[in-house]
Amino acid sequence: MLALKRIPGIGIVSAACLGNLAVSVGIALAAPTDAQPSLMARARLQFQAIPAAPPSLPGNASTPAKIELGKMLFFDPRLSASHAISCNSCHNVGLGGVDAEPTSLGHRWQHGGRNAPTVLNAVYDKAQFWDGRAKDLEEQAGGPIVNPVEMASPTAHVAEQLKGIPGYRPYFEKAFPGEADPITLANVQKAIAVFEATLITPNAPFDRFLKGQASALTPVQKEGLALFMDKGCAGCHHGINVGGAMYAPFGLVKKPDARLLPAGDKGRFVITKIPSDEYAFKVPTLRNIALTAPYFHSGQVWDLKEAVTVMGTSQLGVQLTDSEIDKITAFLGSLTGKQPSIAYPILPPSVGSTPQPQP
Ligand code: HEC
Ligand code: HEC
Repeated sequence: MLALKRIPGIGIVSAACLGNLAVSVGIALAAPTDAQPSLMARARLQFQAIPAAPPSLPGNASTPAKIELGKMLFFDPRLSASHAISCNSCHNVGLGGVDAEPTSLGHRWQHGGRNAPTVLNAVYDKAQFWDGRAKDLEEQAGGPIVNPVEMASPTAHVAEQLKGIPGYRPYFEKAFPGEADPITLANVQKAIAVFEATLITPNAPFDRFLKGQASALTPVQKEGLALFMDKGCAGCHHGINVGGAMYAPFGLVKKPDARLLPAGDKGRFVITKIPSDEYAFKVPTLRNIALTAPYFHSGQVWDLKEAVTVMGTSQLGVQLTDSEIDKITAFLGSLTGKQPSIAYPILPPSVGSTPQPQP
């Protein structure tokens, strides 16, 4: 049996111990007189509720001015060469933070190789991208702006473009006080990261359940939660994001078909070159999963129930029954939280001397 990789510092877990974990936790905490508190207690060992306030980012203090600037940049298509594509094009905050495409459409209608993951709650993931190649949101934000199939801006052009929009200067000065030359790509990344950190979705029914409100989940959702833990899903999808805390091969027990797992994308292996990382991907968050079809890094599965079925066979080697799939899917529905409400930012206008879009 393959060992599962965890992000350094979190330890390593093997498939064999996933099952044992579920069993031992079940035995230790089962309170036969009342099933409810026991389910809640078990869930609290594996998951945490999303707090009401965003987390702070190390070395990147959050201020209202920086959040505001980050929001403007997130929505500004002029960060792309064509002036047509913003972060929000592919991470639409009205669509659960995704683009609802199998793989994203970027510069010149090019398709990238992977499905766009949600930006909602991404701040809680241990690393960014499907293969974890960026350590945090700040590092990540530098990627898409200059990626030739995404926004395609030459690196040096980013600051030049923003300096060419005179109305941006006061916003950068306020967000980065005391800096002689605040309009830099590094500061763009910092501002976007603090804005993204605000894109959290607290108060999902599951969060209310974790905080003690037994009635927050329906009876079917509770059965689904129990299955999610007992079958071993939570062995990989755990923590505050119900995912985002480790890597695992897609097809740990049985490889899914090539449509879902194209041979050309070896996932984390490309970063680490460690053979056991072949076809390993970050275990994605399942928060707001009902909003973010299509599923998997290949974006080929549109039905959440089908995604659950695939996980049973590929990751656990079990054929879940229709009733189990329905219950687990109902539980996943309880992970939809309060979506961020965002006032669309008014962006400073281009002027005669502003660099123009490139075809
Ligand atoms: C053309 C579409 C596109 C644009 C534009 C785009 N992204 Fe992405 N984004 C993606 C795709 C696709 C991935 C996954 C790529 C991978 O894992 O290799 C991704 C990954 C991410 C992630 C990692 C999430 C996770 O769970 O790992 C974050 C955060 C993110 N993008 C933020 C941004 C920001 C901020 C911008 C603007 C500066 C932006 N994106 C622009 C498509 C896009
Ligand atoms: C061995 C670790 C592991 C186990 C166990 C596991 N998963 Fe996953 N899960 C993953 C990985 C890795 C992915 C990403 C696969 C990909 O797209 O490359 C994933 C993806 C998913 C997705 C799609 C998420 C998205 O944003 O596209 C869903 C839904 C899901 N899992 C649910 C479940 C359920 C339900 C179970 C239990 C029946 C389960 N998983 C068991 C590792 C696991």
